[in-house]
Amino acid sequence: MNLGVIGAGYVGLTTAICLASLNHKVIIYDTDRRKIEKIKNKQMPFFEDGLQNLLEKTITSKNLICVDNIDNLVQDTDFCFICVGTPTTQDGFIDLTQILAAITSLAVSLQKNKKNDFVIIIRSTVIPKTTRSKILPILKEILGEQQFGLCVVPEFLREGQALGDFVNPDKIVIGGFDEQSKDLVEKIFEYFKVRAKIIKTNPETAELIKYTNNAFFSLLISFANEIANISEKISGVDSFEVMNALISDKRITTKLDAGDIVPELKSYLIPGCGFGGSCFPKDVRAILQYASINQVKTPILNAVLEINDERPRRIVSMAESLLGDLKGKKIAVLGLTFKPDTDDMRSSPALTAIEIFQNRGATIIAYDPLISKKNQENPFDFALAKTIDACLDKCNLAILFTKWAEFQSINSNFLKQHMENPLIIDGRGFLDQSKFERNTYYKIGFVK
Ligand SMILES: NC(=O)c1ccc[n+]([C@@H]2O[C@H](COP(=O)([O-])OP(=O)(O)OC[C@H]3O[C@@H](n4cnc5c(N)ncnc54)[C@H](O)[C@@H]3O)[C@@H](O)[C@H]2O)c1
Repeated sequence: MNLGVIGAGYVGLTTAICLASLNHKVIIYDTDRRKIEKIKNKQMPFFEDGLQNLLEKTITSKNLICVDNIDNLVQDTDFCFICVGTPTTQDGFIDLTQILAAITSLAVSLQKNKKNDFVIIIRSTVIPKTTRSKILPILKEILGEQQFGLCVVPEFLREGQALGDFVNPDKIVIGGFDEQSKDLVEKIFEYFKVRAKIIKTNPETAELIKYTNNAFFSLLISFANEIANISEKISGVDSFEVMNALISDKRITTKLDAGDIVPELKSYLIPGCGFGGSCFPKDVRAILQYASINQVKTPILNAVLEINDERPRRIVSMAESLLGDLKGKKIAVLGLTFKPDTDDMRSSPALTAIEIFQNRGATIIAYDPLISKKNQENPFDFALAKTIDACLDKCNLAILFTKWAEFQSINSNFLKQHMENPLIIDGRGFLDQSKFERNTYYKIGFVK
C-alpha cells in the first residue's frame, strides 16, 4: 500500500520504518528539514534498538522515502498517519498547535493535488472529541466537496521497545467516522491480525482508550510509590519485598503447573523516583484538565500526579538526610533518560531532581550511557562525564536514576575507587544491596 507519515519523531519514524519493512511504500514528511536530511542519509535522529538497521534497509530498498515538501507525500500516497507531537501547555492543557498545523497543510495539499478518497489516520494522542471538533472541521472547510476518510488509530508503543511493540501489538484500535474508512485502515494492519485484537469503534472511544492505557500504568507506578512512602516510615520494611509479594498473588500472577506467568504490569508495580517520558506525565495531566473543564472529579488521577511530582523531591531529601546541607556538595547523577534503552529525556525525574539540587547549591556531574556518548558538546548547565568513572570521581554522593544495564555491576569496591566516602542512593531499587558495605547503600522505599 502507498502510505504517508507526517512527523518523523519516535512514533512517526518507527511507524514509517516498520511499515516500509513490511513492504509497504512509505513516504515520510517532517517540517524539521535537518531531521529529514539525516534520515535520508540513513541516520536515526534518535536511539531505538533495532531501528538503525531497518532504516538502512528500507531507505536502500526505496520502500521508505523522505520528503521535505508535503505535496511529494500527497501525490504518491492514499493514506497518511499523523504522528506529530501533542505536548501539554504550561497549565496542563493539550497543545494542538503541531497537529492542527499538520492537518491544515495536509488538507491544503490534498486540495491542490485534487486527491479524492484519501484516508487520514490520527496516530498522535489527542483528547476525546479533538478529532471530531477540531480536526474534522478544518478538513471539511478546506476540502469542501472532496471526499476523504478519517480515523483515530492510537499508538501504544513504548520507547526502548518500540520495534517489538510495533511489530507485535496486542491491540489495534480503529476509531472511525464511517465503516469504509475503518475497513481500509484495517487492511494496513492485516499483517498484525494474527496476534493483535482489532477494536473497531468510534473516534472518541479510540481517543479515550489511549488515555486510559497511560493513566492506568501511571496509576500502578504511583501506587507502588505510595506504598514506598509508607514503608519508609517503618524501619526494616522493604517496599520492593512488599510489592513482589503482591505480584505473586494468583489474581495477578497466573499459576500453572509448568510455572508462573508473571504479567508485564509487574514492571510498573515497582517503587522508584517516578515516571517520566513524553507520554505518561503529559497524558495524565491532559486528561485531568479535560475532566476538570467537564466538571468531572478525578481524585485518583490527581493523586497519581501528586505522588509522582513528589518523587524527585523525595530523592533530594534522602540526599539531605545523608549529607546535611547540600551547598558545595558534589553529586554524581547516574542516568539522565527517563528509562533505559532510550535517549529520551523528556520529563525525566533526573532532570527535575538536578534542578532542585542546583537550587540548593550542590554541584552536579552526570553520566548516562547514551546521552554522554551522543553529545560531543555538553548541552546542559551541569557537567556531563564521558564515563562512569569520571562521573564518580571525588563526589560526595552518587544517585542512580535510570536502570541502565551498565550500572548493575556497581558495588562498594567500585565506589571506593572513586569516592573517599562511598555513598549511593539507588533511586530505582536496581542494585544488589548485598554487594555494598554497611552505610554506603540507600534505596528509595526502604529504611533499614
Ligand atoms: N513517544 C512515545 O513513546 C509515544 C507513544 C505513543 C503515542 N505517542 C504520541 O504520538 C505523538 C508523537 O509523539 P513523539 O514522541 O513521536 O513526538 P516527537 O516530538 O518525537 O515527534 C514529533 C515530530 O513531528 C514533527 N512536526 C511537528 N509539527 C509538524 C508539522 N506541522 N508537520 C510535519 N511535522 C511536524 C516534529 O518536527 C517532530 O519530528 C504524540 O501525540 C504522543 O503523545 C508517543
